[in-house]
Amino acid sequence: MHLLKDRGAPFPAPSEITPPSVYRQRRTLLQGLGAALAGTAWAGTAAAQTTARPGKLAELPARRSTLPGAVTMEKLTAYADASTYNNFYEFGTDKADPARYAGSLRTRPWTVAVEGEVKKPGTFDLDTLLKLAPMEERIYRLRCVEGWSMVIPWVGWSLAELIKRVEPTGNAKFVQFVTLADKAQMPGLRSSVLDWPYVEGLRMDEAMHPLTLLAFGMYGEVMPNQNGAPVRLVVPWKYGFKSGKSIVKIRFVEKQPKTSWEEAAASEYGFYSNVNPKVDHPRWSQATERRIGEDGLFAKKRPTLMFNGYEPQVGQLYAGMDLKKFF
Ligand code: MTE
Repeated sequence: MHLLKDRGAPFPAPSEITPPSVYRQRRTLLQGLGAALAGTAWAGTAAAQTTARPGKLAELPARRSTLPGAVTMEKLTAYADASTYNNFYEFGTDKADPARYAGSLRTRPWTVAVEGEVKKPGTFDLDTLLKLAPMEERIYRLRCVEGWSMVIPWVGWSLAELIKRVEPTGNAKFVQFVTLADKAQMPGLRSSVLDWPYVEGLRMDEAMHPLTLLAFGMYGEVMPNQNGAPVRLVVPWKYGFKSGKSIVKIRFVEKQPKTSWEEAAASEYGFYSNVNPKVDHPRWSQATERRIGEDGLFAKKRPTLMFNGYEPQVGQLYAGMDLKKFF
């Protein structure tokens, strides 16, 4: 897969992306492993899905969320795919790079600074965050702007829990998320594909929405480094790039904050970036998606749903807005 800078836009066209089934085959061939290993989809009933653990990392116990919309019954993406087909440009731009190189990320000690327009700013260490609210398992669809999607059982709690505790002032209209940028740990920072650190943002009501998740794990275990350990955001109705990984700072601000992807290509990546099958990316359609794990040669694409299927829960946040303009 080649990029970006020379083509004026950071994300490659979907046609340039090697489907996971293909690269997986390639990899297993190379490594001389049985294709079964990497390709085993981990399926079962919905109940079994939430409890089964891959057994790779430390357990992160959670109760199943009862929040409306927080648990889709769709088949889970295999852990092997969710943890090896990643976007985490701090570790390289190839889908396999994060799993390959994120081992160098030190996730402890870890702190998240909360600052800006709040009455109670402060620095939270990871252990405090892990205990701040009851851990919930949320099974969310995640749709990447590149045109693929996964179904992942995340573990975390609503970002609103943290926001309530720091007491935003009346001037807090937006929230900016700043993620780690440490050259010593992140080989991808040598590339200027994005301006580091990776920053993202939400409007205050989006950040307060109960579906907006601060995630510390997935599949019943702590977060794999390549998926954004030790703490990341997951905003299920927006394209995946809104969900910043390895967050170190949360800033409450009055003006709409800059985001890395907007800086890189404002005409392609807007601030809102809500999943919307009716608003195409300038270089490709957003009407359909490839579900990871269903991406064999003859697999049908799925129609992309408005707000990634979360319209009943979040549609009213955008009532009256021109979604073509505020893309
Ligand atoms: N966060 C950081 N810090 N750096 C990144 O490159 N990529 C984003 C998002 N968060 C990214 C990031 C993109 S483009 C997507 S699609 C999701 O992470 C991918 O999350 P996943 O690898 O867990 O599926």
